[in-house]
Amino acid sequence: MNNKVNFVILISLVLLHLGESQVVSGLNYRLVVVADESGRSKNYAAIVWEELWQKSKNLTSFTPILKNNRFF
Ligand SMILES: *[C@@H]1O[C@H](CO)[C@@H](O)[C@H](O)[C@H]1NC(C)=O
Repeated sequence: MNNKVNFVILISLVLLHLGESQVVSGLNYRLVVVADESGRSKNYAAIVWEELWQKSKNLTSFTPILKNNRFF
C-alpha cells in the first residue's frame, strides 16, 4: 500500500501586519496546501504567523478546504 503523501503549496499570500506605531511588526502567510493522498487531492488552508523581531514562525491555523469553498 502506497501511503506517500505529496504536498504542494499552491498559493501563498503574504499580509503585512502593522503594529502600534504603523511599523511592520510581523507577517501573516496564508497558504493553500494541496495534499495528494493516494490519488485523492485534498486542500488545506494554513496560516503561518511570523514576528519580524523573532527568529521563529508559528503555524496558527491548518484547516481543510471544502470543495467549491473559496479561501480568498
Ligand atoms: C510561537 O508560539 C510560542 C508559544 O506559544 C511563543 O512563545 C512564540 O512567541 C510564538 N512565536 C511567534 C513568532 O509568534
